[in-house]
Amino acid sequence: ALSVLEALILGYLLGSIPFGLILTRLAGTRDIRSIGSGNIGATNVLRTGRKDLAAATLLLDGLKGTAAVLLAGYLWGIDGAVAAACGAFVGHVFPVWLGFRGGKGVATYLGCLLGIYWPAGLIFAVAWLVIAFSTRYSSLSALVASLVSPAALLLAGQTEAAAVFIVLTVALWLTHRANIGRLLGRTEGKIGQAS
Ligand code: G3P
Repeated sequence: ALSVLEALILGYLLGSIPFGLILTRLAGTRDIRSIGSGNIGATNVLRTGRKDLAAATLLLDGLKGTAAVLLAGYLWGIDGAVAAACGAFVGHVFPVWLGFRGGKGVATYLGCLLGIYWPAGLIFAVAWLVIAFSTRYSSLSALVASLVSPAALLLAGQTEAAAVFIVLTVALWLTHRANIGRLLGRTEGKIGQAS
């Protein structure tokens, strides 16, 4: 039980590093939280026009989740790995360093999933790309992909991970409340456009 707590803390500390904010500050773009959706994730970094920064944000926000899961899995096994995934997601969404106002957790969810069971991460990525290419909505792509990944974990017999990722999918839908409202009202910004 203590190791689960340690894994949660490890995940939280890595997950709470706000790479989108750090990279845009270093690059001296306009404040990411004052443009587009105001989010600190890769989709909104792209709205600064800097594709390189958006790609780096996606990569690093994902890798912090993968690193947390792999490290915790190595130290404490699968219980530690899934606890670290939860910690990393919560850390990204509620970073203590930013007054608990963080991101929506898509890249970190994907990075954790890749670390837990990479084929499920691959399926998430493919589903995201299919919806993104056909609709140009980043949020919708994440919402749909997050329904597919727990199903993939279940089918693969990864029941413990599936249970945890069902919870993370619900959490991901909750972080996208404003996006869901805009999608339903047909006012959501498309990829690369301001919302
Ligand atoms: O991953 C976040 C994305 O799904 C939505 O981002 O900036 O359009 O709210 P944003």
